[in-house]
Amino acid sequence: MAQTASARRTSLHGHWSSRLAFILAVSGSAVGLGNIWRFPYVAGTNGGGAFVLVYLLCVAIVGLPLMMSEILMGRRGRRNPVATMQLLGEEEGSTPNWKLVGAGGVVAAFLILSFYSVIAGWAVAYIWAGASGVFTGADAQRVGDIFADLTGSWSRTALWHTAFMAGTIIVVARGVERGLEQAVRVLMPALLGLLIMLLGYSMVAGDFARGLAFMFEPKLADLSSDGVLAALGQAFFSLSVGMGAVMAYGAYLPEEASITRTSVAVVLADTSIALLSGLVIFPIVFANGLDPAAGPGLVFQSLPLAFGQMPGGSVVATIFFLLLTFAAWTSGISLLEPPVAYFMESRGLTRTAAASLVGGIIWVLGFLSVFSFNILSNVIFLKGTFFDNLDFLTSSILLPLGGFAIVVFAGWVMCENSTSDELDPEAGQAYRMWRFSARYIAPIAVILIFLNAIGVLSPVLQALGLTD
Ligand code: PHE
Repeated sequence: MAQTASARRTSLHGHWSSRLAFILAVSGSAVGLGNIWRFPYVAGTNGGGAFVLVYLLCVAIVGLPLMMSEILMGRRGRRNPVATMQLLGEEEGSTPNWKLVGAGGVVAAFLILSFYSVIAGWAVAYIWAGASGVFTGADAQRVGDIFADLTGSWSRTALWHTAFMAGTIIVVARGVERGLEQAVRVLMPALLGLLIMLLGYSMVAGDFARGLAFMFEPKLADLSSDGVLAALGQAFFSLSVGMGAVMAYGAYLPEEASITRTSVAVVLADTSIALLSGLVIFPIVFANGLDPAAGPGLVFQSLPLAFGQMPGGSVVATIFFLLLTFAAWTSGISLLEPPVAYFMESRGLTRTAAASLVGGIIWVLGFLSVFSFNILSNVIFLKGTFFDNLDFLTSSILLPLGGFAIVVFAGWVMCENSTSDELDPEAGQAYRMWRFSARYIAPIAVILIFLNAIGVLSPVLQALGLTD
């Protein structure tokens, strides 16, 4: 029978000092390169408006219930995601093999952080670039060259990747309260403030009307079935769900904190920052004749143009890339935490040893992505370079599959007593909505998107006369 008092279980790693600390930590995880680097470039390569619409739908109907599920499972299990899923699987009268879902998440964390750190390294490099004033007065050509110079040099890229990984390992080695919490308190609000300032610039100096139309006029014909899957993947990537990162953080959540309110706050913050970045970047893209579908270099080529033209641009550029680095850092930390907690709990390693070991492996793996932009840029298979494949495998496959399994577990395997025990303080209505989404809406949406992506859905829709 399911246990009723999860209050008796405590985390092995300490707890967040307050609900606010937890909200900051989860938003620190959620807000990162996913919002500012990935959202605009994936929206750009998938045609804009229709992608954004599907993305928003995915956030609301799949992302939010999934985030709530992860937090409630994490808090109930109070272990790393692998052990939590094993424990809850047994406790709920199912099988301990649910731990495989947690293990899949740990693998995803390794893979994501390996390329995440490389892109974050670009942001670190751009702090210095901005400060040195190279962007001042630069035209699109020059800005493009600066970017190509950086990514084309494997040694420079590797250096910044190394610096970023080292910073991430150090914070995780310091532990939950001392390390993770302090890093997010000031930085998140600062990032938001700067983005709002840049929005002002974009409205005045960019082609704001076109940027707005690009993002919010859904032209369904522009969206491929891969694009729909990419929108789901982007929603999961941006919210940090589907791999247990939020579950790992939930394990440190104090008993009395409201999971529903926390999740809603984080989802709103994350989504606003993504939309805000799009609204900053696309007007600049259109005003300068750049290509919205330029790919992973989009932010690094559009924003420096703007910085180069505004008064005090070097200072603004420096602050912006500093904040982007910090946003990436707090996300990187949350990617490293689940595997580290796993190696500590299951292999008996100390926090420092686990952080160094896991971080070291990820650092080495990162070289595949470092080389994808230079010496291995001609090695193209399946979805593109090594980087493209890692990115596709994780966000379009592993996160949606993991998210599907987690939401099914919370909705179908866990008994109502257990889930309402965790979510109850927030009263009946929200609970019933969550449960309905976790059981029906979210899983069905994921299945439909996958069927669509492998081409099974469109003949059916055609037969029903729903598309042509
Ligand atoms: N959500 C983070 C971002 O947007 C990335 C991330 C994905 C972090 C998965 C943790 C887990 O940058």
